[in-house]
Amino acid sequence: MKILLFGKSGQVGWELQRSLAPLGEVVALSSCSSELCGDFEHPDRIAHTVQAVAPDVIVNAAAHTAVDKAESEQDKAHVINAHAPSVLAQEALKLDALLVHYSSDYVFDGHGTHPWRETDPTGPLNVYGVTKVEAEKAIVASGCRHLIFRTSWVYAARGGNFAKSMLRLARERERLTVIDDQIGAPTGADLLADVTAHTIRSVARQPAGALSGIYHLVAAGETSWYGYARFVLEFARQAGVMLKVAPEQVVAVPTSAFSLPAKRPQNSRMDTRKLRDTFELSLPSWETGVARMLTEIFERPS
Ligand SMILES: NC(=O)c1ccc[n+]([C@@H]2O[C@H](COP(=O)([O-])OP(=O)(O)OC[C@H]3O[C@@H](n4cnc5c(N)ncnc54)[C@H](OP(=O)(O)O)[C@@H]3O)[C@@H](O)[C@H]2O)c1
Repeated sequence: MKILLFGKSGQVGWELQRSLAPLGEVVALSSCSSELCGDFEHPDRIAHTVQAVAPDVIVNAAAHTAVDKAESEQDKAHVINAHAPSVLAQEALKLDALLVHYSSDYVFDGHGTHPWRETDPTGPLNVYGVTKVEAEKAIVASGCRHLIFRTSWVYAARGGNFAKSMLRLARERERLTVIDDQIGAPTGADLLADVTAHTIRSVARQPAGALSGIYHLVAAGETSWYGYARFVLEFARQAGVMLKVAPEQVVAVPTSAFSLPAKRPQNSRMDTRKLRDTFELSLPSWETGVARMLTEIFERPS
């Protein structure tokens, strides 16, 4: 199996390099790759890359993920998040390749408290969300074989993340305020990558297009950013990390306490039943993955 991976340096892309390796030959590109173009700001060159590699599977982990910046970079966000993926879909169709793409809880408007299902109507609140919906629609309409995974609150041990920010702020500051009215599930890039590899193997054994569709893929359980922060600080305290702000001193605030360019959905709960049933998978709790990531951080020599 030949796999073409875009966005290899991102949180998910980095983990995919590991999880896809046992499946076959992986050609992994970033926006800076020189021999083959991996820059989504040049969709025509991306098409050429796909034609040159002629993969069996295209995995797209590249995206304009700076949600607030996207509000003032609409054209750039559209090209990277929607236009380039639609070109990938057209090229995948020509090759009869499988296209794996990642989407977001931000495709929903966040009302209510029920976990969103794949069939629920989308209603993005910000530019990033609009571009993610556009990509989904273009991929599905193209008729290519596809797996679209909608996920949320992605973290990875490598690079910066919310947990590391909370640890730093709790060491440096006297007071920490965290949003308590947005609910979702922190989801590890490693989990996304492992499930991606598993599903690619499953799809390869099925008749063409049989399992194509949109799937919700998040860790089990739910929390707020405040609950997430308290979990991180409690874990740090148990590990003997010195903090100026104790977990119970974190102050819960509403979204309105922060003024950010992009509006965020309050309800990011996602129903993962379709994915679990279709691929016979069990998704671990968000706490399991975050604890593992924190253990890696604390055990790493600084
Ligand atoms: N992060 C989240 O909380 C979250 C939540 C829901 C869904 N998702 C989705 O999950 C997927 C993976 O996200 P992630 O968290 O791994 O994001 P990430 O860490 O921000 O990585 C995104 C990657 O996209 C690449 N990229 C940016 N501009 C590019 C361009 N012009 N051409 C090619 N590559 C470009 C970047 O690579 P370079 O450094 O090489 O430019 C970066 O490595 C995305 O589709 C995202 O929308 C993420």
